[in-house]
Parts: sequence; structure tokens; C-alpha cells
Amino acid sequence: MVLKRAAALAATVTLLGAVTAATQTPPAAAPDGAPAWAYLVKPPGYKLPPDDGAPRHVPGSAASYKVSQLRDPYLAPDWHPQEHPAMPSVVGRGRRPDVMACGFCHRATGTGGPENANIAGLPRAYIVRQLQEYRSGARTSAVKDRLPTDLMMATAKALTDAEIEAAADYFSALKPTSHIRVVESARPPKLVQAGWLMAVAPGKATEPLGRRIVEVPEDLEQFEARDPHARFIAYVPPGSLARGEQLVKTWGDLAMACATCHGEDLKGMDDTPPIIGRSPTYMVRQLHDFRTKARHGEMADQMEPVVANLTVDDMIALSAYLASREP
Ligand code: HEC
Ligand code: HEC
Repeated sequence: MVLKRAAALAATVTLLGAVTAATQTPPAAAPDGAPAWAYLVKPPGYKLPPDDGAPRHVPGSAASYKVSQLRDPYLAPDWHPQEHPAMPSVVGRGRRPDVMACGFCHRATGTGGPENANIAGLPRAYIVRQLQEYRSGARTSAVKDRLPTDLMMATAKALTDAEIEAAADYFSALKPTSHIRVVESARPPKLVQAGWLMAVAPGKATEPLGRRIVEVPEDLEQFEARDPHARFIAYVPPGSLARGEQLVKTWGDLAMACATCHGEDLKGMDDTPPIIGRSPTYMVRQLHDFRTKARHGEMADQMEPVVANLTVDDMIALSAYLASREP
């Protein structure tokens, strides 16, 4: 277990890796039918770029961090301390050896990235429930051995109730913000995989998008510095936005309409989460996880009839449209 954990930790830091991997387009579907582009796993042979020792900076911040600090899973880089209340220790530092800092993966203000989840401003009771369900195993992933999710589950299993409460207090009090621009395009720029993330390849080449969503950071260095201000472009197939809006308004009967449970403005209701302005690849993973019952917690069954007959193309359209709305 200890060995497994050390290997996992070593691999996590490659989440920060730059575009050094061989160019590759992920297959449209994994053998189990999951949309592989939504559940990116690290390409074989992928290596972290060497640390050049130079301090890193991001726009609008006087702070500076060494690359070794940015790769430390027990540290949430705090680029903009004026933008949030004091981080509880579980968010800012974690607890060695089993609890990595929430803010290392989700960023100091919870904005996250396509490889995990934006958790800023989620309802407090919803956050508590998700952490308990990761801990109990009721929330898993349809694609096994996807390291970011495995580490989320491992972290949750080690959390105390007090840490869950402190993290939920902190993240639920933050303002939800969107960092995604949704662009319909049949031919986006040529893409490469950078660890658990896609990025735009250098040069002017393009490639066919096909039936997938590809989310890339606007500035890879800012992303790697774990700046919560980092922004993303989501390339989606042409027609997705109109089709997604239509689906949101017309899917199923009233009992299945997104607004019935997620609120008229889709900004969440009681302990049901908001679904607008969130990472569209994260959203596709969740819809697929509900359908395969990989996510089968206490309230996940409410989503079962909703997703039962959704095709992957429906999921793409819904997630693209929802991501395009301001939270
Ligand atoms: C190793 C990186 C990592 C760490 C550390 C981590 N998470 Fe996560 N977290 C993830 C990933 C990845 C997901 C999304 C999994 C997926 O795509 O299904 C996630 C999902 C979540 C969700 C579900 C969001 C939703 O909308 O349902 C919550 C809540 C959450 N994390 C809270 C936390 C808290 C609180 C901590 C600290 C105690 C933490 N996480 C630590 C990677 C991490
Ligand atoms: C009958 C009520 C209900 C309806 C209708 C419904 N949802 Fe949900 N949805 C929920 C609940 C409850 C959850 C939280 C489940 C949990 O706690 O695991 C959820 C969670 C989600 C999530 C995961 C969010 C996250 O942060 O991980 C997505 C995505 C989602 N719903 C999308 C939709 C879409 C799109 C529609 C319309 C096509 C829809 N839902 C309709 C009740 C509903």
C-alpha cells in the first residue's frame, strides 16, 4: 500500500507536465464504451519536463513559486490571497502522508481544471455528501485506474469528519466562477496530450475534432503554475450549443427536465449542484458515471432516469451548452 501510494504521488506531479508527449489523438471510445477523450489518462512514456530552477510568476500576482513547490502535493499555491478567506489546513497543506492538499488539485479557490472539478460555491451539504461517498466507495469512476480520480478517492478515504466539514465550509462559501470559453469548431488547432490534459500543439496546423469535446488551457504555463485565474477553451462540434439548449428545455417529461431539480437558472437548488459554467469534459464524465452506476450514491439515483437514454452526442451537446452559460 505504501509503495502503491508513493508511486501514485510520483505520478501525480506529472499533472503539471508540459507538452513534451508524443502527439496523439485519443480514440473516440474506450473498450468499455466510455468516451475516452473525457477520461484522459497519462500517455505511456510521458515524462515531466526537467525543473530549470527558475521561479514562476503569474499575471496580477506579486507571489513567486519554485517548480518544486508547484509540484508539492501538500501545498496549494496561493497566488491571489486577497481573493479568498484563510484556507483551512486541509485545503492549503493537507495532512501527510495520506491527505494531499485539496487546493493542490482544485487550486486555492476551487476553480479546478478539466482534469478534476470546479468546486467553488457548490452547496455545502452537496460537498459533504460527495466526500462521504468517495470515502465509502459509492462514488467511483466508470474508467478504472484513472489516477486523478483514484487520488481523489484515496484522499477522501483518509479524511476525518472534521476535515470534511472544514473543507466544505471553505469551498461552499466561495463565489462560483467560470473560466471556460466554448468554441464550436469542426477543425480546432492541432492538439497534443500533456499529462492528464490536452493542449494546443505549437505551429499553425489543425485537425478534425470529430465527436468529442477537447478542453485546452489558454496558457499552459499559467495552468501548470496552478493559477486559479487560468482560462480554458473548450472546442465542441458545430451545432452543439443550439442542440444542447434544446435538450435542456425539452429532455423527457417535467420530472426529467434539468431545471426541475437543478433550479430554474440551473445554478443549483438546496443540495443539488449547479450545472452551468462547469468544465464540459467533467460534466460528460459525470453523466457517463451516473449511467454506468459508477456513481451510485444516496441522491445519484435521481439522475439515473435522466441519463438512461442519453447518447454520447447528447452528453456533448448538453455539457457544451451548460458550460457556455455564466454561473
Ligand atoms: C489528487 C488530486 C485531488 C485532490 C488532492 C483532491 N481532489 Fe477532489 N477531485 C479530484 C478529481 C480528479 C475529481 C473529479 C473526479 C471526476 O472527474 O469524476 C474531484 C472531485 C471532487 C469533488 C466532486 C465535485 C462535484 O461537483 O461533484 C469534490 C466535492 C472534491 N473533489 C473535493 C475535494 C476536497 C474537499 C479535497 C481535499 C480534502 C479534494 N477534493 C482533494 C482530484 C482531487
Ligand atoms: C430528478 C431530479 C434531477 C433532474 C431532473 C436532473 N438532475 Fe442532475 N442531479 C440531480 C442530483 C440530486 C444530483 C446530485 C447527485 C449526487 O449527489 O450524487 C445531480 C447531479 C448532476 C450532475 C453532476 C454534477 C456534479 O457536480 O458532479 C450533472 C452533470 C447533472 N446532474 C446534469 C443534469 C442534466 C444535464 C439534467 C437535465 C438533462 C439533469 N441533471 C436533471 C438531480 C436531477
